[in-house]
Amino acid sequence: MLLDVSDLTVTFRTNDGPVNAVNGMSFSVDEKETLAIVGESGSGKSQTAFAIMGLLAKNGASTGKVAFDGTDMLGLSPKQLNKMRAQQIAMIFQDPMTSLNPYLRVSDQMAEVLQLHKGMSKRAAVAEAAHMLDAVRIPDAKARITMYPHEFSGGMRQRIMIAMALLCRPRLLIADEPTTALDVTVQAQIMELLAAIRDEFGTAMILITHDLGIVAGSCDKTLVMYGGQIMEQGDTEGLFEHPSHPYTKGLLRAVPRIDRDDDELLTIAGEPPDMSNLPKGCPFMPRCDIVKDQCAVVKPALQFDGGRKRACHADRAEVANV
Ligand SMILES: Nc1ncnc2c1ncn2[C@@H]1O[C@H](COP(=O)(O)OP(=O)(O)O)[C@@H](O)[C@H]1O
Ligand SMILES: [Mg+2]
Repeated sequence: MLLDVSDLTVTFRTNDGPVNAVNGMSFSVDEKETLAIVGESGSGKSQTAFAIMGLLAKNGASTGKVAFDGTDMLGLSPKQLNKMRAQQIAMIFQDPMTSLNPYLRVSDQMAEVLQLHKGMSKRAAVAEAAHMLDAVRIPDAKARITMYPHEFSGGMRQRIMIAMALLCRPRLLIADEPTTALDVTVQAQIMELLAAIRDEFGTAMILITHDLGIVAGSCDKTLVMYGGQIMEQGDTEGLFEHPSHPYTKGLLRAVPRIDRDDDELLTIAGEPPDMSNLPKGCPFMPRCDIVKDQCAVVKPALQFDGGRKRACHADRAEVANV
């Protein structure tokens, strides 16, 4: 097991009281495996990743356990964390410009990483960086590496960011909404690229997205998050074919599909929960089509059920029928 997260919580201190962004997440990622974390905006996906990486905002704190290849990530010093982040776990974000320095040539910022973490000479580092730009299919990489980030298109910048993240050959890549800012064609190209990288470098991946459309076919396992908790978790194909949680069903109904008219597209009615005032029972209850007596008072535990984990008081057959 490469990454083993157990009972992870993230709480933010605010003037209006604590915000419980992540509430007891447990999951794991194996070597070379791809895990999708899906859910609507505000469900705690990014904060889960930030907690793993030790990148929470100053008012945030995490509890629980994050073991990366046996190392307890939550117990590391800032210096040790920095080393882990560069060499073992890398993260890419929705907006490449947050990670790229606009004032530095791509060659300089990529080489810097390798000089710092791998002790390479500038010359060797630039050569390796160009090689990595080739690997992310940037045409004419050798010549274009001396350009500045703004001289590239959005899709190309995202490729550069992926190349940056891969420079030290991390074992785990966390991609947080990596294609959200891009148009559909470029989105598909970036997803193809991520799949190619997984095959070429054997990198394990966590893909975070609110867009279920990009998950099928690209991730081994899927974890559905709501209110900072796991609602359902299992292998992607089975979960998409037979969702066993009303929230998963709702999300899938909102995905555009070619075999269905777009006017059948339904978003889930209602609003995501207030993370500073989560309900006592199931967080999804106010928006759910199947409501049982327990739902308001008892938080459903995440349990194994038919080859998958689910947190729901209704049984599978009931969910299948709504
Ligand atoms: N620094 C912060 N202070 C207070 N609340 C925060 C902070 N950062 C994030 N949150 C809250 O944490 C919750 C989860 O956010 P996030 O993980 O970013 O959601 P998403 O699933 O869209 O990635 C949201 O309700 C958000 O408002
Ligand atoms: Mg997010």
